[in-house]
Amino acid sequence: MSEDPSTVMKQQVGKAAAARVQSNSVVGLGTGSTTAYAIQYIGDRLQSGDLKNIRGIPTSFQAEVLAKKYGIPLTTLDAIDRIDIAIDGADEVDPNLNLIKGGGAAHTREKVVDSLADQFVVVVDSGKLVDRLGSNFLLPVEVLPMAIVPVMRKIEQLGGKPELRMGVKKAGPVITDQGNMVIDVKFESISDPANLEKTLNNIPGVLENGLFVGVADVVLVGEVKDGQPSVRQL
Ligand code: A5P
Repeated sequence: MSEDPSTVMKQQVGKAAAARVQSNSVVGLGTGSTTAYAIQYIGDRLQSGDLKNIRGIPTSFQAEVLAKKYGIPLTTLDAIDRIDIAIDGADEVDPNLNLIKGGGAAHTREKVVDSLADQFVVVVDSGKLVDRLGSNFLLPVEVLPMAIVPVMRKIEQLGGKPELRMGVKKAGPVITDQGNMVIDVKFESISDPANLEKTLNNIPGVLENGLFVGVADVVLVGEVKDGQPSVRQL
């Protein structure tokens, strides 16, 4: 285990979520650095024989790569009729368990998988908890490339400040796993997340935005207090 507190929190919360997975189940595999530990620990449990007959549904290319690395068999939504549990990270969590997701540009597939799960378990470190969504994190919106300009204009009319997400160690914009682009939007205040989620998704050319309202069932929060890591449930 790493000594870096942020990494320790992610490892602990990932492990706690992986412990909730039961044999003979279909598991939604989320995206991001925290969920990566959950995927690793699910793989460990399979290896040790503690867990049997799991099938994973990846929410991204990253999740697919990690699942293969840790020996988790994969399936698709066409082949199953239910998802028992999904484990996924978040960028912000409010007191009503509403989320902002999409820091890894995977929120469109994440929303499909996480919404279908009988139980959606969110894994975060304590720095992700906010009183109001949009406090620290810009809201990601996945957009068809040909509609970028009109969608940005429309978002400005709604009071948002949009910026096209640019690649790191790659010239040009971020391209999602589906071949689209991401606009990150600053809203002064997101007072009605449910309404904003619908309004944004109604703009032609928008695939999906990162507001997850009423989707999370359980939020596990990793913390380090007095040097001691712990996990609490919201
Ligand atoms: C991926 O698009 C996101 O929704 C992630 O789940 C979210 O950004 C959390 O990632 P970290 O666990 O890396 O902070």
